Amino acid sequence: MNQTAKTGVSRCPIDHSAFSNNKPLSANGCPVSAGAAAFDPFSNDYQQSPPDYVRWAREEEPVFYSPKLGYWIVTRYDDVKAVFRDNKTFSPSIALEKITPNSDEANAVLASYDYGMSRTLVNEDEPAHMARRRLLIEPFTPEALKQHEPLVRKLARQYVDKFINDGKADLVNQMLWEAPLVVGLHFLGVPEEDMDLLRQYSIAHTVNTWGRPGPEEQIKVAHAVGNFWQLSGKILEKMRQNPEGGGWMQYGIRLQKDHPEVITDSYLHSMMMAGIVAGHETTAHGTANAIKILLQHPDAWREICEDPALIPNAVEECLRHNGSIAAWRRLATCDTRIGEVDIPAGAKLLMVSSSANHDDRKFEEAGTFDIRRENASEQLTFGYGSHQCMGKNLARMELQIFLEEFTRRLPHMKLSEQTFSYLPNTSFRGPEHLLVEWDPAQNPERTNPGILDLHAPLRLGEPSASAISRPVVVEQAILVTDDTLKLRLVSPDGKPLPRWTPGAHIDIECGDTGISRQYSLCSDPADTGHLEIAILKDPESRGGSAWIHDNIKQGDRIQIRGPRNHFRMDPDVKKMILVAGGIGITPISAMAREAKLRGIDYEIHYSGRSRSSMALLEELSALHGDRLKVYARDEGNRNDFATLLAKPDPDTQIYACGPTRMLDGLQQCCETWPEDALRMEHFHSVLGALDPSKENAFEVELKDSGLTLTVAADQTLLQALQGANIDVQSDCCEGLCGSCEVNVVQGEVDHRDVVLTRSEKELNNKMMSCCSRSVAGKKLVLAL
Ligand code: FES
Repeated sequence: MNQTAKTGVSRCPIDHSAFSNNKPLSANGCPVSAGAAAFDPFSNDYQQSPPDYVRWAREEEPVFYSPKLGYWIVTRYDDVKAVFRDNKTFSPSIALEKITPNSDEANAVLASYDYGMSRTLVNEDEPAHMARRRLLIEPFTPEALKQHEPLVRKLARQYVDKFINDGKADLVNQMLWEAPLVVGLHFLGVPEEDMDLLRQYSIAHTVNTWGRPGPEEQIKVAHAVGNFWQLSGKILEKMRQNPEGGGWMQYGIRLQKDHPEVITDSYLHSMMMAGIVAGHETTAHGTANAIKILLQHPDAWREICEDPALIPNAVEECLRHNGSIAAWRRLATCDTRIGEVDIPAGAKLLMVSSSANHDDRKFEEAGTFDIRRENASEQLTFGYGSHQCMGKNLARMELQIFLEEFTRRLPHMKLSEQTFSYLPNTSFRGPEHLLVEWDPAQNPERTNPGILDLHAPLRLGEPSASAISRPVVVEQAILVTDDTLKLRLVSPDGKPLPRWTPGAHIDIECGDTGISRQYSLCSDPADTGHLEIAILKDPESRGGSAWIHDNIKQGDRIQIRGPRNHFRMDPDVKKMILVAGGIGITPISAMAREAKLRGIDYEIHYSGRSRSSMALLEELSALHGDRLKVYARDEGNRNDFATLLAKPDPDTQIYACGPTRMLDGLQQCCETWPEDALRMEHFHSVLGALDPSKENAFEVELKDSGLTLTVAADQTLLQALQGANIDVQSDCCEGLCGSCEVNVVQGEVDHRDVVLTRSEKELNNKMMSCCSRSVAGKKLVLAL
């Protein structure tokens, strides 16, 4: 099959001779698969759900050539991220190219407007791109964005005020299209006049770039785009008269004085037009998609209405599951490979990032919408690497504030009966209308006007897993020893609780004291109906265990976070020595149960003051018989670690949890054992507060993002990364949990965490950004 000149590919790039005679030919004669031949991103099926539309490809043919489009289509998470990461092999230069080339007549119309859209931050190669990005990124940092919060809150209030008493609305028409446009214009520094015109023009820009307009529509679109171009130029000229304004464009105009070769006139004009589209449509569609999917999942909607602290992570899950950018483009600059597929130089790529976001290899049960998904923010809707969306945190701010306004004021809102339609195009996706309804008599502010003054704190940047909590009900609370309370927790709606693995813990929030404490799970991991923990009342308690003992009783509803596991069993372990001291038995009991289930050779060594003070003793004895060795101090029995561990065994691993003195003793006795044989649960960080007088500042180069940052002496690497708009997850911020891990390409790390094993630390290819630093202030290079 020969491609037409329309796609820019002169002939089919598939090597026909490489195919056997058995390979079925597609309808157009190519040896591409039937799915690849049928792929049409302008079809209604793609518009309704791009990830479902290419599900077959994710499973069977993750990278394929589409003869209809003249593009190679990339569908899996790792492949899409690898393409984003390498902006030299995969040039962004075609990101804004018209996917359906214009007719000569349409081009003539554009020329009549002196249309001259050229390179912007989105479609520019290096080295020009990073030079501009570095100069222009400052107004996008979380710190700088905070100044826009009052305006976004004010707009959310004003728009909802207009229809709150109507009982129904088309949210796209009445708010979600226009409000992000106002925010976008405000951010850019553009006056709000001409908003209606800008609205029409920016739709035309989408059709022009990513759509398939017919010949007549092309002419209409060309006039609109030409007008958009001219209006952008006029607005820019107005700004030049008053370059002291607070917008991003004025910031660029001011920088032009010192960097005229980097911030050129043509560049400013192109960015003016592209910035309006980029800042507006992505967020408008993103908010509509988010509200739609949340209302389609009433349990999730109810939960964010009841607990607004869940909104930041819910936003990430909405962006992952139903984001506003369905696909993005790159050009192969040389012969290369993506996954198992050879890609020729000059090939055009359509990376279906919405499909990558539904890849089960990356996201567990990716099709499930889960507002507590802990890796939701690894979605690729904002892209990745040096071209990642600069406005991602502005979008996050708008989404969070709009959702907060709706959940507080219209928690009883429902989707109306409707069929969703989308503007046919490959990349920008959101419903054209979003019809909702509610009973105005039930509006909470009619009986409680105070809700209008409530605000959840804004969270810019990566949402922290530590903010994701869930309610549970205490089904049983019994004292199992004089000072150990065992709690059995179930979900309030009878639904299964999250799965967990032995060694995992949950955090209990102690009412409104602001205190939360971690407790290891000791029930059966296979039973998702309930969770069990045992809490020792610590005589030195500063409020955690004492509060739980004094306040929690059967029937209470409490908030927990997790489960999370920092104390995992090695999946290949052959033999286990399990050592517990006192209440340290809780994770050990779950591990012992797992060892028994998996047929692993194991023994349990459990020490305590007296048998009556040792929790779970009876059930452990019943389940494990002779494998359980009990050392009760009042019986004169002590575990002799030196004898127990006298002979190192390469096939045995030791898992231990208990008082620090016990763990120190074990560590000494394991010195002759293989590295990493001993694995311990640490409840407390070994880190002190950062002491700037003793720390060195150091430089860190971010290879994928093309940035170099300085980590100040009074700052952690994590803080420096987040301050520069780089998404890195975090949770404990004490070197305990492993969620802030980053990959190290070069440089020596001063490891200060308790997550990595000794040999992992020696490998020096990853580090915990919340606590670890460079050795002696030398430079580090990270794969970020
Ligand atoms: Fe937990 Fe860094 S955030 S180890």
